[in-house]
Amino acid sequence: MGITGKTRVYGVIGDPIEHSLSPILHNAAFSYLKLDSVFLAFQVKKENVENAMQGMRALDIHGLNVTMPHKSAVIPFLDEVDQTAKTLNAVNTIHNNDGRLCGFSTDGIGALKALEENNADPNGKRVLLLGAGGAARAIAYTLAQKASELVILNRTSRQAEELAKVLKQTLSKRVVSKALTRGNVQESLKDSDILVNATSVGMKPDVNQSLVEAEWLKPDLTVMDIVYNPVETKLIKDAKLAKAKVVNGVEMLIHQGAASFTIWTNQQAPVEVMRQTALKQLQR
Ligand code: ATR
Repeated sequence: MGITGKTRVYGVIGDPIEHSLSPILHNAAFSYLKLDSVFLAFQVKKENVENAMQGMRALDIHGLNVTMPHKSAVIPFLDEVDQTAKTLNAVNTIHNNDGRLCGFSTDGIGALKALEENNADPNGKRVLLLGAGGAARAIAYTLAQKASELVILNRTSRQAEELAKVLKQTLSKRVVSKALTRGNVQESLKDSDILVNATSVGMKPDVNQSLVEAEWLKPDLTVMDIVYNPVETKLIKDAKLAKAKVVNGVEMLIHQGAASFTIWTNQQAPVEVMRQTALKQLQR
């Protein structure tokens, strides 16, 4: 489809930005649905975040994804921020609604959809979450609302404690936090239905790393990894061998993208097109 005077402009801002998969995913979706829209990546330096938000209004950019390191920095320049993004102090999606900039966080809903769509509904289940960084916080906030119990383990245990405190205060849910030690992982896994790795461990180039020993995995466990490069992390490979149910990082990637897509276009995203596009790109 050619770009015309009517083409709607979308994009992603971050720094660095050249490795973002968002342009490929969203352009594939626009093309499949024959929408006259284009999605670009913009490298925005820290000192230009406010200018970028003014530019979004001035140039009538219809939607933006926001990635590292600007997820919190954009907030003061938005007109509205939804409750989830406010609690997490992180926005990954901005919708320009006739000049009003509205911020959302779709990472948590992306993780929830990834589980639900892969027959692993976390409702009433015991969830063990590894990590307490940006992505982990969003996942924890959404899954805590569904799970019967949430255990958060993080290398920096203070981060896990702070996250658990926020969840307890805002959701009045039972949340346990501990340091991410081998012993705590092994022990907590015994009482878990769903394990989510929301740390960066296992990401290229350190593809032989996993925080979980293969022999701790069992068939009645669901294992989700948010690392999508490689698509099959060591954790996912070990989980498959243990006959556990697996949900790889591409699932969360496409479902958080699909949630942004729907906010912007008010249409269902073509999830299968996005999945195949992401897999093709990552297997290059
Ligand atoms: P993201 O936005 O992808 O979540 P982040 O906010 O930098 O990135 O979070 C990275 C997460 O991976 C953190 O939970 C981090 O643990 P710390 O809070 O202790 O830094 C975790 N992480 C990264 N490398 C790790 C490692 N080698 N072992 C254990 N956890 C690790």
